[in-house]
Order: sequence, then structure tokens, then C-alpha cells
Amino acid sequence: MQPHNAGRRQQGLPVVVSEAEVREMVARLSAEIARDHPDDEVLYVVAIMKGALMFLADLVRHLTMPIEIELVNARSYQGTQRQSEVEILDDVASLPIAGRHVLLLDCVLDSGETLAALRRQVSARAPASLKTCVLLSKARERTTDLRPEYVGRTIPDVFVVGYGLDCGNRWRHLPYVAQLPPDRASKGEAR
Ligand code: IMP
Ligand code: MG
Repeated sequence: MQPHNAGRRQQGLPVVVSEAEVREMVARLSAEIARDHPDDEVLYVVAIMKGALMFLADLVRHLTMPIEIELVNARSYQGTQRQSEVEILDDVASLPIAGRHVLLLDCVLDSGETLAALRRQVSARAPASLKTCVLLSKARERTTDLRPEYVGRTIPDVFVVGYGLDCGNRWRHLPYVAQLPPDRASKGEAR
């Protein structure tokens, strides 16, 4: 059965990663994570909000080890414009990280600065293990040497929305990832 809004959800944007491909990538990543982490130890999943919202929800439902979830707010974009400074808005020092198996999650790796900043803060708190996972990685030069252990796939270096990713806090609800051309971003379309 088609969902009632299947037509409207197309939005006329060029699809970069289809809903089916997202599903397939999430299943594959969860199998890789399960292979590397024992089934009887707690995996502490720390997800970057709000972009990793959908990815987190889908990924953890494939995992069978005990899971604890933490949400960390970070900000690096205003609309489609990158800010110079990455801001980790939450206090990582207050999280129970020492001695835990930690998995950092983000939806997209762009410059790598956000995950690198969070990774530094988590790493300083003596986790038992620390790995990073991104659904998407943009094909571009990185300004950091962070290389996530788990990557869904590489995408072209374009601004994308959907599956958690936003422009001005909109478009996150799309079940696929699509390119947002600059003219549509500047109109601030309400969808
Ligand atoms: P980085 O710090 O440059 O790697 O950027 C990662 C963060 O920027 C992600 O957590 C996203 O929130 C945001 N971001 C990067 N590229 C895009 C994009 O194409 N669309 C929407 N958000 C993006
Ligand atoms: Mg954003």
C-alpha cells in the first residue's frame, strides 16, 4: 500500500540516496557494528542532534546488544552556510563515558570538524572503546584527520536535506536524502 502522502513527499528535489538505499545502508552498518561489539556489553550510542535523529532511530532497532542512547546538540551550519566554529552545545564532561564502549553517530561527514570536536571531548574521558559512524560522507577534502570506522556511502559534495538533515530546520522529515539546490534553499521553502 502506498502511504497517503507518497506523491507529495517527492518534493521535486533530485534524490541522492533513495529510501530503499537508506534502509539497505542502515542494515549493513548495523551488521558491521554488531560484528565489532560483543553482544553482552552495553553500547553507549552518542548521536549528534538533530541531524542523526532518523539514522539513530533506525540503526539502534537493528542492534541486539544492550544499548544506551545519548543526544548531543551541535551546530555548524546557518541555513546552507557553514559557520567557522563548530559548537558542541551540551556538556560532554557530565556524560558517563569512562570505561564504556562508545559509538558516535552523525548523519553526514562534511568537513569532519563536528565529529572530530566531539570525538576529542569523548576521548579525553577514557572510554573503553570509541568508534564513529556516519551514514553519508561527502567526497571532499577534510580539514581533520578523523576517519569514521563505519561509513554508509560517499555522496557528491553538494548540500543535501532529508532523513534528518535540514536547511533552516526544515526538510528533516523526508524519508530519502535529496539535493537542495541553492535557489530553493534561499527561498526558505516551508516543507
Ligand atoms: P562537518 O562538521 O563539516 O563535518 O559537518 C557536519 C554537520 O554539518 C552535520 O552534523 C550536519 O548537521 C551539517 N551538515 C553538513 N553537510 C550538510 C548538508 O549537506 N545538509 C545539511 N546539513 C549538513
Ligand atoms: Mg543543520
